[in-house]
Amino acid sequence: MGLPDKTVGEARERVRAALAALGLALPPRRILINLVPADLPKEGSHFDLPIALAIMTAMGILSSEALSAYAAIGELSLDGRLQATGGVLSAALETIGLQLGLICPRSQAQEARWASDALDILAPETLRGLLAHFNGDHVLTPPELETVSASPPVADLAEIRGLETGRRALEIAASGGHSLLMTGPPGAGKSMLAQCLPSILPELTHEQILECSRIHSLGGQAAGSVLVTQPPFRAPHHSTTLPALVGGGSRSRPGEVSLAHNGVLFLDELPEFSRACLESLRQPLETGSITVARARQTVLYPSRFQLIAAMNPCRCGYLGDTTRSCRKAPRCGEDYLARLSGPMLDRLDLSLFVTPVSPLNMITLPPGESSANVRARVCAARARQIDRQGVPNSQADATSITLSTEARNLISQADERLRLSARGLTRLLRVSRSIADLDNADIVSAPHISEALGFRLRSPLPSQQ
Ligand SMILES: Nc1ncnc2c1ncn2[C@@H]1O[C@H](COP(=O)(O)OP(=O)(O)OP(=O)(O)O)[C@@H](O)[C@H]1O
Ligand SMILES: [Mg+2]
Repeated sequence: MGLPDKTVGEARERVRAALAALGLALPPRRILINLVPADLPKEGSHFDLPIALAIMTAMGILSSEALSAYAAIGELSLDGRLQATGGVLSAALETIGLQLGLICPRSQAQEARWASDALDILAPETLRGLLAHFNGDHVLTPPELETVSASPPVADLAEIRGLETGRRALEIAASGGHSLLMTGPPGAGKSMLAQCLPSILPELTHEQILECSRIHSLGGQAAGSVLVTQPPFRAPHHSTTLPALVGGGSRSRPGEVSLAHNGVLFLDELPEFSRACLESLRQPLETGSITVARARQTVLYPSRFQLIAAMNPCRCGYLGDTTRSCRKAPRCGEDYLARLSGPMLDRLDLSLFVTPVSPLNMITLPPGESSANVRARVCAARARQIDRQGVPNSQADATSITLSTEARNLISQADERLRLSARGLTRLLRVSRSIADLDNADIVSAPHISEALGFRLRSPLPSQQ
């Protein structure tokens, strides 16, 4: 009892079978399992192991004294093996606070180890293995933290020919964690550029790995270990629903914006996303977190992601190209752009029009600079930012950015022309700071501001750029 869902209810059969595999038959009596607190709905298969251990203690097979030093989490298979389940990392972090050890499935020992070096972890393969440990027949060895080998991202900047401005914008965006909008005709290379971003992003810190892994572990993405060791790159399709994007549903699961925490949210074909989806991004883009409120509970998920968006300038995609655009140009472009609200566009730090490389240049141009080289510059610039202010430039306090006199003058001239919002100015200053960091400069000077202004959104349409 205690509001179990169907999965918890079926633990009855799994536990019975797992104990039978050990040669244990349940006593022919009524067995009452009380899940507390009584008014909080329980869900998931991770209660199997604790339920089995409680029954074994009640039967006198395990000593409750030995078990009292541990919390337990894990699903049981019918033959008594411990199966991976969601939430092990969160459970491990929680048990540290309770000054307990943790019993979890073998396959998730690494996940638990990431929580702390000092945590007492028992990670048996089977229920039988755990019993042998407590009987002193075969003591389990505590798992060691394995170093994670970064799997190389698939897309590399070396495959891209030309597109110098696009590459530059990507480098600036990566170094400071800025948001970026790429507009351009079909096949210009927008999606390709975005796919290359993971290959130049700085590594996650230990803390960020924990944060991301906790969220992904709750999202129940995959069975088994869910350590997120690379910056996440989430690319939801434009048909995505609002709960899938921002989180929610009956279980208040984290959405794509939270799964992209400390990483990238890539929205390809931006205007094709539903209006509700696009507007819902405004809160997390500004505050770095999102509140998912449902009838039963309210959950605050972190969602500090870098937004990368791509779009065509209009429906047919060829606006600005007189030989190929449709008869409705330029109206079609204005209508298409109108799907994006002003406040949404105001939140984009960098914007550029991607002009396709001509077929001749595609053949004659040499391959571009490799991601490894670009990444070295990005990491150096990011290290400067962390040294100076502890956070990437996209979260920096814009008022503390030091400007040269010429830079100041340039901004006031530009302001008359661009009518920057207060947010626009903040974002402009942060991007300029990133450009200066890539340039190894302590003070933001006029060339940095003017490059940032070049990437400031006026209109993503080619004719007005
Ligand atoms: N500059 C380039 N260097 C190398 N390959 C390129 C370049 N531009 C385009 N391509 C090739 O064209 C393909 C299509 O590019 P991509 O999918 O990025 O276009 P897109 O701008 O996203 O177009 P759409 O608007 O239709 O989504 C890429 O997979 C790549 O093979
Ligand atoms: Mg594309």
